[in-house]
Amino acid sequence: MTTAHPVGTACAIGTIAPMEKIMHTWTAQFIAPEHELDAAPLLRREFVLDEGHGPLVTATLYYTALGIVEAFINGAPVSPDVLTPGWTSFEWRLRYVEQDVTAFVDANRVVVGLALGDGWFHGSLGWHDRVRPYGSKLAGIAELHLTFADGHHQRVISDDAWQSGRSAVTANSLYDGQKIDARRTQPGWASPGFDTSGWSGVRPVAFDRARLAPAASPPVRRQEELTPQRVWESPSGKTLVDFGQNLVGWVRVSVRGDAGDSISIRHAEVLEHDELGVRPLRGAAATDRFTMSGGDDLFEPTFTFHGFRYIELTGWPGGIEALQDGGLVAVVVSSELRRIGRFSCSNPLLNRLHENVVWGMRGNFLALPTDCPQRDERLGWTGDIAVFAPTAAYLFDTSDFLRDWLRDLALEQQHNGDVVPFVVPDLLKHLGHPPEFEPLDSTAIWSDAAVWVPWALWEAYGDPSVLGDAFPSISAHTRHVRSLLSANGVWDSGFQFGDWLDPDAPAERADEAKADPGVVATASLYRTACMARDAAGILDRESDRKEFDALAASVRAAFCTVYVDGRRIRSDCTTVYALAIAFELLDAADTVWAGARLAELVEASGFRISTGFAGTPFIMDALSSTGHVDTAYRLLLEQQCPSWLYPVTMGATTIWERWDSMLPEGRINPGEMTSFNHYALGAVADWMHRTLGGLAPLEPGYRRLLIHPRPGGGLDWAESSLETPFGLASVRWESSSAGLRIDVKVPQSVTALLRIDSRPDRELEPGHHTISSS
Ligand code: BGC
Repeated sequence: MTTAHPVGTACAIGTIAPMEKIMHTWTAQFIAPEHELDAAPLLRREFVLDEGHGPLVTATLYYTALGIVEAFINGAPVSPDVLTPGWTSFEWRLRYVEQDVTAFVDANRVVVGLALGDGWFHGSLGWHDRVRPYGSKLAGIAELHLTFADGHHQRVISDDAWQSGRSAVTANSLYDGQKIDARRTQPGWASPGFDTSGWSGVRPVAFDRARLAPAASPPVRRQEELTPQRVWESPSGKTLVDFGQNLVGWVRVSVRGDAGDSISIRHAEVLEHDELGVRPLRGAAATDRFTMSGGDDLFEPTFTFHGFRYIELTGWPGGIEALQDGGLVAVVVSSELRRIGRFSCSNPLLNRLHENVVWGMRGNFLALPTDCPQRDERLGWTGDIAVFAPTAAYLFDTSDFLRDWLRDLALEQQHNGDVVPFVVPDLLKHLGHPPEFEPLDSTAIWSDAAVWVPWALWEAYGDPSVLGDAFPSISAHTRHVRSLLSANGVWDSGFQFGDWLDPDAPAERADEAKADPGVVATASLYRTACMARDAAGILDRESDRKEFDALAASVRAAFCTVYVDGRRIRSDCTTVYALAIAFELLDAADTVWAGARLAELVEASGFRISTGFAGTPFIMDALSSTGHVDTAYRLLLEQQCPSWLYPVTMGATTIWERWDSMLPEGRINPGEMTSFNHYALGAVADWMHRTLGGLAPLEPGYRRLLIHPRPGGGLDWAESSLETPFGLASVRWESSSAGLRIDVKVPQSVTALLRIDSRPDRELEPGHHTISSS
């Protein structure tokens, strides 16, 4: 997290804006199989290279699908990408891929093939009664542009010359899993000379090609493979496999068995009563089924994904004893993001907590930032990323990924009367909103993603174009919320998620938090107005700056008048003090008593966590900035439930949705909404990077660093490092009886302010520094 503006108003510097990709002008049309098929379709076109023009110089393939697509040329997949083109707000925007395929065009006869799956566009989505929001068309589009030595161009496009056939994929769904029947495999279907008897033609599918946009977000790819850690029989006689890590992806299977026999794989994140704990998946069947051919088969269900650590395996030929090494491999899948930030320290539990944040992020940065990857939801919940964005932007280079998602946010907002929806892409407008969300309007934190996410990117990477691109969305959101204020100037009407999942809220009423929803909403609006003001300043939009400055001042005044009474903030619980302090809503003197009250409440709760989605990302900063760093450490290091480390002591390998997704006695929380892979509460890692580790941006993009480690909690050492836009920056501190030793790397063109508590600040030039203080 960052406070309202401690690092925010610096000049425009840092990374270079990503090149806007040149828009391709399409002549091809979307095509679908002429006849309904009882399997996922294959589309192919075989042709001969034009002769007499010398050798081929370049070949570029443009492709996408109303569904998901894997493209092949002469038998080979043209890229390692999977689940292409992901999920965008398809009503207005569908990504396409532009790929250099010169190396694949290796003969005079060429085949372009597209294998299609349902994915998001053609799949049914949402919980309870699922919907197919984008219609029932499943189709692909492709253009292959070839250039020869003499400058001649040849173009092959998807049109009525293509053929269609059925694949071995007999069913596929992101939530429910994939069925593959190896007996139906058609070897060589994407190679020249394949016998297409039994194949049919195609028909055109109408789709407005103006919606096609070049893919700016990184592709989804396989990231790593994990092998089974344990295979055993459950009390009820099921074969269970543990991959040792809650992950997102699928299981690849190599097997040989009788033709027509099937293996089925059911996935789950946890065990309960020593059996697979599938209740949290709700309506997602999360089951793959593979039917064997009788020969050596390799199954990889790339048209689905699951959130799992365990699988239940049925039908393995010869039983568990026959399971060979390499027969089962868990394949981790995620958007291709570059890891840039790291953290470690002398406490193994904190290291595991941090690792859990990283895994939670990987699993939920799959084509879009999602709440969770396993149940019948997997939606771009705006509040979750609003609070997690600073952590995400430190751990991985998320610029292209989140900027692409912000385009969808802006489009949804634009078509929704300036209201930023709860999820982007907005499935709920198709699915129907639960009645408790009425009256439907902006809500604090969730709708604030329009402002908090671009601001986090600006701070992390220092590229002002993120603010420029997002400014229409930032300003429309801020003005819309202004229109919702009550006569006394606070935001206390309408539905609010508030301090969602406060550990004291009833399991089925996550919004019934201790914190007054008006306090949370008004504090959040103040933060938003400050960011909107500062963004306007950076963009030289003086009249907008003044407008949002005035809004910020009036919201702050109203907050203090309406919600602060003597030395209490309304509802007198940790979250309200955390927000008031971290967002700088109080003046200096009031901040002192608010910090003291916050520390008192934290202590009174036995150092167990008492905040939900709203308070959790900010409570550590609020404590450490008001002289209560020891209390902050006690809170961070607490192991009793609820706390950050409780899940770690329970063997968690990702961040849970609820503080007690798994209850201490080993039962899954009875709440209907219980995921074991939700990144929101992992936002604490941001504090670990900046305050425990001591590496923070003093100016956006880390042009100037603040090196201010706060040793404590009995830790002997900690280290934060980051590939900034200027090079590697790192801080390592070690505390011993000899005193404190700090090693700092400051990249070229960067300066740093070194702050050690109770010493004068010091400037550091680029280079390596070792500082000792006793
Ligand atoms: C999601 C959350 C989300 C919340 C808001 C849940 O179902 O999983 O992470 O922010 O709903 O209502």
